This record gives sequence, C-alpha cells and structure tokens, in this order.
Amino acid sequence: MRRIYLDNNATTPLAPEVFEAMKPYLIDEGFGNASSIHWYGQRAKAALEEARESVARLINAQASEIVFTSGGTESDNTALFGVVAAAAADSHGADRPAHLITTTIEHHAVLYAAQALEARGVRVTYVPVGSSGVVDPGDIERAITPETALISVMHSNNELGSIQPVEEISRIAREHGIVFHTDAVQSAGKIPIDVKKLGVHLLSLSAHKLYGPKGVGALYIRKGTSLRPLMYGGHHERDRRPGTENVSGIVGFGRAAELAIQGLCDESHRIAALRGRLEEGILQQVSDATVHCSRSPRLPNTSSIRFDHVEGEGFVIAADLLGLACSTGAACSSGSLEPSHVLSAIGMSKEQARSTIRFSLGRHNTEDDIHQAVEIIPQVVERLRSLSPHYKKEAVSL
Ligand SMILES: Cc1ncc(COP(=O)(O)O)c(C=O)c1O
Repeated sequence: MRRIYLDNNATTPLAPEVFEAMKPYLIDEGFGNASSIHWYGQRAKAALEEARESVARLINAQASEIVFTSGGTESDNTALFGVVAAAAADSHGADRPAHLITTTIEHHAVLYAAQALEARGVRVTYVPVGSSGVVDPGDIERAITPETALISVMHSNNELGSIQPVEEISRIAREHGIVFHTDAVQSAGKIPIDVKKLGVHLLSLSAHKLYGPKGVGALYIRKGTSLRPLMYGGHHERDRRPGTENVSGIVGFGRAAELAIQGLCDESHRIAALRGRLEEGILQQVSDATVHCSRSPRLPNTSSIRFDHVEGEGFVIAADLLGLACSTGAACSSGSLEPSHVLSAIGMSKEQARSTIRFSLGRHNTEDDIHQAVEIIPQVVERLRSLSPHYKKEAVSL
C-alpha cells in the first residue's frame, strides 16, 4: 500500500544527508568524548563546535549562545525553571513569590513545567487566547506585575500552526525588564527565525522536527541572560548543561540545520501551496468541515480541521488503514480521553475538539500525496458519519 505521512509536526524522518553526517560519530573514529584532550576527544569536540555554528546560523545567534539539550522538552524546562531559580537567587529576601506569564495554548513541556513551579509557590498567569489561536500582546502586558520574572509564549502552536506575535511581546518584555522565552520547536525549519529581530532572551529548538535525530535539542540563551542549570554534574556546555554530549546527535542536528537554511524559502512556498490544495479539496468535498485559524498567521505546513460528528481517534485509525497518517491534536495527547487543551483554549466544545484532525505536511510530500489524501479523507468522514446516530438524527431533522 502506498502510504502518505501527514504528521510532520509529531516528528520528521531523518534526512539521508543527516544520517551520513552522523555515521562517523557512531561507528567510526568520531566516537570520542568531547571533553577528552587526546585526538579522539578533540575530533568529537571540533564536530560539536561546528554543529553549534550551524544551529546558531539557523536562528542568527552566536555559537556561544547555543546550549545543546536532549530536546524541546528539556529546553523548555530549563528556560522556565532556570530563570525562576535565577530570579529567586537575585531577589534573595524578597517576601513575594516570583510571577510567570504564559498562555493557555503552550505545549505541555511549558504548561506542566509552569504547573510544577506553581506547586513550589510561583504565581503563574495563563493568558487566554481567542478563536484566532493568537494571543493578544496587550493581554500579556496587562498581566505584568512587579514580580514578573519570565514571560514564555510559544513561537507557533503545534496543533493549530498559529504564529504568535513574539516580536511584539518580546518588546513589551524588554520595556519592563522581564526575561522572555519562546518555544520555537515547531517554527524552526519551517519559517525564518532570527533571534536578533525577535529580541528574545531564550528560544527552544528540537532536532527531530526538522529532519534531525530524536533526543537532541538546543536552548538559545542570549548573552548576559541570568539562568540556573536544570541539572548538576560536569562542566559541559559552559556549565549550563552537564553530561557527556550526544556528539552524533548534535552533529546530525547541525547538518539538519544547514539543510533547513538552504531549502527554507522554496520549501515553505511549495508546502503552503500543497496545504492550500489539501484544504480546498477537503472543503469542496466534505460538508460540515471547518479549518481552524485559517485567517490567522499560520505555519505553512499545518492544517487543523474539524469534521463535525466524526470521532477523531476513529478518523485517525480509519485513515491509517487506508494508508494516510495524521493525528488528533498533539501526538502526546493521543490515546488520552481528554480533548486537547489547545482546542478547548480556542473555545471548542469537547465534541468539537474530539472531531478535530491535524494534518501536517513536510519535505517529502508531493502533489500525488495530496491528491490521494483528498480522495481518502471524504471516504473516511462519510463512513464514520454513517455510523454516528447523532449525525443521522441531525441530518433527518434538517
Ligand atoms: C511546541 C513544542 N514544544 C516542545 C515539544 C517537545 O519537543 P521534544 O519532542 O523534542 O521534547 C514539542 C513536540 O511536539 C512541540 O511541538
């Protein structure tokens, strides 16, 4: 069966060039520990630093501002816990707890970290987001208090693709002297990211979302930003992240970043055109289908579509049987009975949230893929609706 992968926001396949770049650091003479002073160690160290330069170039940072981590989750946690710990150390003796501002549509790597901080006495404001899926910078500004130590707003949302006004929020944060973090895990490699233009202090990245290996990420830490490490151990990553570096993974991340820089502009136009054809084809053939946040600034590859009276998990399974891979909201919430917090945050009822499917396109998708997807999707919707007593009842009452 010919298979179509439209779940690139969950993860992407390793690019062959990335695999080739990693190989010498897995099974060849590049296996050394980058902290060793002998030839093997220095070879690994040189590769590590070269990769750091490449990742820095992807976001227009300096190489010294890049700290390698185990992925987006660790980068987000380091940003939140690290800034709050540094603020607590700076304000030694202050009688009021630190305050953190974030939004209701963040990835769980930020939301659950914020909740864990709340349990430790930090005050957290979760700024709501309307049906556009885009936070209002004015709402962020109104939430600021003298105790606000950190604002964390994602660059683009993993379920909706909506792009947040990060540059504006960052300006507000700077005006108030507050550290600003953005989770750019879904944006990097899909749209241009320039930390200088954005003016952010901290930015999270993950290699596996841009055709790099899983288990590798980075946190951009702007020079001069006060941050405590999440873990303690060796003096790796300039004392900002201990542990023997995942050299092959980091080399892969570096190569993936280079490939992303080369192909970014053409690819994003090509993918946006394919996404347009997918949405058009679906809307033409399927009744009661709605594209979420279609009028908002969106990532070129992401499409969140609600098919009323279709159960999302059922859709994903039925589509998979026909060779189409997609997902219900975030991959991490699949299998859970709770509807996606992101869809609830933009005003969806539980039923509407459960009827929503995320299609996320990638480098390997072709016109043929979209053509086939547009044939499969109406069949799946029709079949599931024919099994839904609720849909039939509504259809009869019309
Ligand atoms: C917006 C966002 N942040 C963070 C993460 C976590 O990244 P990782 O899988 O590298 O831990 C993801 C993964 O889906 C994501 O979409």
